[in-house]
Amino acid sequence: GEADSAVAEICARHAAEEGPVLPILHDVQAHFGYVPDAAIGEIAQALNLSRAEVYGVVTFYHDFHREPPRSHSLKVCRAEACQAVGGRDVWAAARTAADSGDADIDLEAVYCLGNCACAPSVQLDGRTIGRMNVERVSALFAAGGR
Ligand code: FES
Repeated sequence: GEADSAVAEICARHAAEEGPVLPILHDVQAHFGYVPDAAIGEIAQALNLSRAEVYGVVTFYHDFHREPPRSHSLKVCRAEACQAVGGRDVWAAARTAADSGDADIDLEAVYCLGNCACAPSVQLDGRTIGRMNVERVSALFAAGGR
């Protein structure tokens, strides 16, 4: 498929280099936004390495993503001022929704968004939203981050 030829082309571009695995992985991630499983096998084959060797490099460096990137990012504040006024429940609801639903949202815990006065706070795609609650955060996931 199209994915295969992209990986093959990237491998060919770096084949003559010394230590080509890292530059290849970086290019694959730049192309797909992550390092797909299929690419690992293909890189291994192209470089005459075992799958485990390439896989080991991917997991060793934390800047390689194994999953396609999500379109939206939700950061939920888990610092004290927010936790004290319902932030714990907001986080729990967000975690549950993120784990069970198929919303295109990447959930992340953060520690203070500088919006303590309007706690509990979250940040959706860089926009800070205060006075969050379980209903609103669940609705966010139900809407898929839109
Ligand atoms: Fe949550 Fe500051 S503690 S915004």
